[in-house]
Amino acid sequence: MARHLITSAIPYINGIKHLGNLVGSQLPADLYARYLRARGHEVMFLCATDEHGTPAELAAAKAGKPVADYCAEMHIVQAEIAKGFRLSFDHFGRSSSPQNHKLTQHLAGRLADAGLIREVSEKQVYSHADKRFLPDRYIEGTCPNCGYDKARGDQCENCTKQLDPTDLIEPRSAISGSTDLEVRETKHLYLRQSDMRGKLQEWIDSKTDWPVLTTSIAKKWLNDGDGLQDRGITRDLDWGIPVKKGDEEWPGMEGKVFYVWFDAPIEYIACAGEWAEANGKTDADWERWWRTEKGADDVRYTQFMGKDNVPFHTLSFPVTMLGSGEDWKLVDYIKSFNYLNYDGGQFSTSQGRGVFMDQALEILPADYWRWWLLSHAPESSDSEFTWENFQGSVNKDLADVLGNFASRVTKFCRSKFSEAVPEGGTPGSREAQLLADLEKGLREYEAHMDAIEVRKSAAALRALWTLGNEYLQDVAPWTTFKEDPDTAAMQIRIALNLIRFYAVISSPFIPDASAQLLTAMNAEDATWPSDMASAIDAMPVGHAFSVPEVTFRKITDDERADWQDRFAGVRT
Ligand code: MF3
Ligand code: ZN
Repeated sequence: MARHLITSAIPYINGIKHLGNLVGSQLPADLYARYLRARGHEVMFLCATDEHGTPAELAAAKAGKPVADYCAEMHIVQAEIAKGFRLSFDHFGRSSSPQNHKLTQHLAGRLADAGLIREVSEKQVYSHADKRFLPDRYIEGTCPNCGYDKARGDQCENCTKQLDPTDLIEPRSAISGSTDLEVRETKHLYLRQSDMRGKLQEWIDSKTDWPVLTTSIAKKWLNDGDGLQDRGITRDLDWGIPVKKGDEEWPGMEGKVFYVWFDAPIEYIACAGEWAEANGKTDADWERWWRTEKGADDVRYTQFMGKDNVPFHTLSFPVTMLGSGEDWKLVDYIKSFNYLNYDGGQFSTSQGRGVFMDQALEILPADYWRWWLLSHAPESSDSEFTWENFQGSVNKDLADVLGNFASRVTKFCRSKFSEAVPEGGTPGSREAQLLADLEKGLREYEAHMDAIEVRKSAAALRALWTLGNEYLQDVAPWTTFKEDPDTAAMQIRIALNLIRFYAVISSPFIPDASAQLLTAMNAEDATWPSDMASAIDAMPVGHAFSVPEVTFRKITDDERADWQDRFAGVRT
């Protein structure tokens, strides 16, 4: 038994995420967490909402709510949806937690003491009406190049020219529209990332087993010069973690907060503290996951994220961890994902294009989505959601192959024998062949799951389901029964045990269906099979079961057409 720490990139608080976000981090992380638990390992699986930054402030303003209230409400919304998808977090925290405030300020203090922070004076636009400094993209005006009147302070959308806010003609605040703006001098903190280049290089070079997608991005930024530039870690916002050096004030930093990307990954750690508090545990209980000198030395830590998050996790966050000079557990393995596209284009939050997590659950149960998303995870390249493909996978893999197997076998047994595992017959060479094939397939499945090869795992699992179907097709107990009921009983006994076996090994992918089948099979023991010989005998002769409700239904052509229309865009 090993100890596994697993984190998923923490989703932004502003708004409900789409299926592309889900499959890029939370869902595969959940798959892995469930699998490791099923294999008997000790797992700590953490996620949280990422609550700071300008987007959170603006979303709250748009909703007409104080930002703290907005975040508290949206956190509950996201937590509920995560439950709906059966994401099995040990804790779903908040980056705005007191634990994260304290730890972020503490780490900033350590970095300052280590000489890794410098102060920089900058000119920035201040809006009197909004009573705040404006980030470049919140300043609008007329483009000096093409005359477009809604150009942003960082770029003109119309002619694509890169701009400085001071280039704009008649600049105004994008928040209030006010033109009462002033350029002011202000101080900010910068993290000296470049000082850590050597250490980072050494660390990344030691990760020879990382996926290509992860290392290629990490190395590109590390070697590209720009990637390791010193980075501003403070902002002039109201909402966020106040800039402090541990418990002490930071002269010149009054009224400023840390940049959201500085405190967000620290929440991975703080979240464990929140977990301890929520569950009546001690500091030692969470520190054994995170501090190498307090037990985390033998923890294996795996992170899940979309490819756009990789630089922050391979450069900036490790700089914070290493630079602190403390014994924080560093990540062992980073699993990153490409993008999932939607029906010939991109998912778009602003245009409401594609399926969002809440809508998905309104139209179908979680397992349908989990199966499709995971079996089409964008691992080696971007992948695409189409309704045809979704309908095809669900109807074939889930309804025809797995669901139909369970329903046929149990109904046949009920009608010809009883609702109990039947007696009689002796397995022969076809059964020996089946067991050998299953044994081999199970090992392949486990190997892919261990390696977090998500698509390959799904394919291996599907292949195991198919072996059962082929067996049933071949031996045809409904025909055998007429001449030789004893042999038919043996065939059905094997098939019934296969239902239980499938329920156990499919649980990381489709936990609800798995639980439903286990209940129908009246199976108390859901431990991971050590070998096929015992797995196929787990439910002995006389073991009572019941016929399960429809496990998976088919998606009709009408539904497909309907949904295709409904999710084409324009949600606001
Ligand atoms: N909120 C970010 C996103 O959705 C991810 C933050 S991951 C963390 O892209 F490491 F910063 F926590
Ligand atoms: Zn322009």
